[in-house]
Amino acid sequence: MAGSADFDLYRPSEEHDMLREAVRALSEAKIAPFAAAVDEEARFPQEALDALVAADLHAVHVPEEYGGAGADALATVIVIEEVARVCASSSLIPAVNKLGSLPVVLSGGEDLKKKYLGPLAKGDAMFSYCLSEPDAGSDAGGMKTKAVRDGDGYVLNGVKRWITNAGVSEYYTVMAVTDPDRRTKGISAFVVEKGDEGVSFGAPEKKLGIKGSPTREVYLDNVRVPADRLIGDEGTGFATAMKTLDHTRITIAAQALGIAQGALDYATGYVQERKQFGKPIGDFQGVQFMLADMAMKLEAARQLTYSAAARSQRVSDGGGKEHLTFFGAAAKCFASDVAMEITTDAVQLLGGYGYTRDYPVERMMRDAKITQIYEGTNQIQRIVMARNLP
Ligand code: CAA
Repeated sequence: MAGSADFDLYRPSEEHDMLREAVRALSEAKIAPFAAAVDEEARFPQEALDALVAADLHAVHVPEEYGGAGADALATVIVIEEVARVCASSSLIPAVNKLGSLPVVLSGGEDLKKKYLGPLAKGDAMFSYCLSEPDAGSDAGGMKTKAVRDGDGYVLNGVKRWITNAGVSEYYTVMAVTDPDRRTKGISAFVVEKGDEGVSFGAPEKKLGIKGSPTREVYLDNVRVPADRLIGDEGTGFATAMKTLDHTRITIAAQALGIAQGALDYATGYVQERKQFGKPIGDFQGVQFMLADMAMKLEAARQLTYSAAARSQRVSDGGGKEHLTFFGAAAKCFASDVAMEITTDAVQLLGGYGYTRDYPVERMMRDAKITQIYEGTNQIQRIVMARNLP
């Protein structure tokens, strides 16, 4: 008899396992060697982008009919998880390519999809997502960026803030107010190109972590876009933005899982090598209990994330609502809180060494912090969950 547990289970298939092996091998060979330097120098991980594009792993979610790999939501999670295990900054390449382009996938017309998903799939362009503003973070509906209809197009003016991969991406999904009287129902979504006249970028933010992923403001100064750059109908932009986050908060959960797994793996190896009181510190029960708790929490987060990914896929396949809003928020919130705990414990297990940049766990701890903040703070996730209890 198929109980509700069976319904929730999303056991990775053999194909998913093979994908994980392949991404792990690529990440260890081509991304891990640069992770410390990318963080230290706060530079874009070009080596990672090149390796991901060469292996067709940079935007795996793009459907096959638009030239993409057509990976399902779990496969996308696995790619992000494995890249994040060695370099969180690099994992933002596949993650934000999905975030930026999903509004087009979910709500765009056929012509828009062909025009923008093809170059993304080929690796010729990356996609960013512009929702937040200096005074509209958690209250995304309070945005001020305006798009005014003018002849056969729209003119956009405003400032978007905290835009991941800004300046590197060619394409930007921009949410802007088209009808100020209707609050969230008066927001529309557009594709803006980096080369559009009037688009410019602020200085890169100086961040605690994910230093390899540029975060910049995007300035829109009388940017004229043709009307066919509108994603869906006028007034549907906020709903599209929220539907997108329902799916992509799961990719942040994946990133958190990967960061935590990287820290746990490193700490597990370290405690077998590090000797104190005449034996490896891993022989002490206090240390074993810490590792057990870390692994237990990580596996719980992984199960919630995979279950959420299964729901995301069923929704994409035309299934019902699947409580995706709840599960997307829950996976992101739980996995990121767990990643923060696990990476902090990994630093603790390495003691003084863990606190230095000679070892990777302090980077992982700094990188984990952002997963509790972006794509909606974990306080916002709790609001979303409370409003959408399954
Ligand atoms: N799916 C579909 N439609 C939705 C929806 C969802 N999940 N959530 C809301 N909507 C629509 C509904 O149609 C709703 O209208 P109804 O009254 O008809 O139901 C409308 O949107 C307004 O919804 P709310 O009344 O719930 O709006 P609100 O102003 O109270 O805000 C919020 C809701 C959940 C707090 C939202 O503002 C939010 O998610 N805030 C956080 C923003 C965020 O996550 N930012 C992250 C930026 S991206 C980033 O960080 C990425 C990066 O660079 C890596």
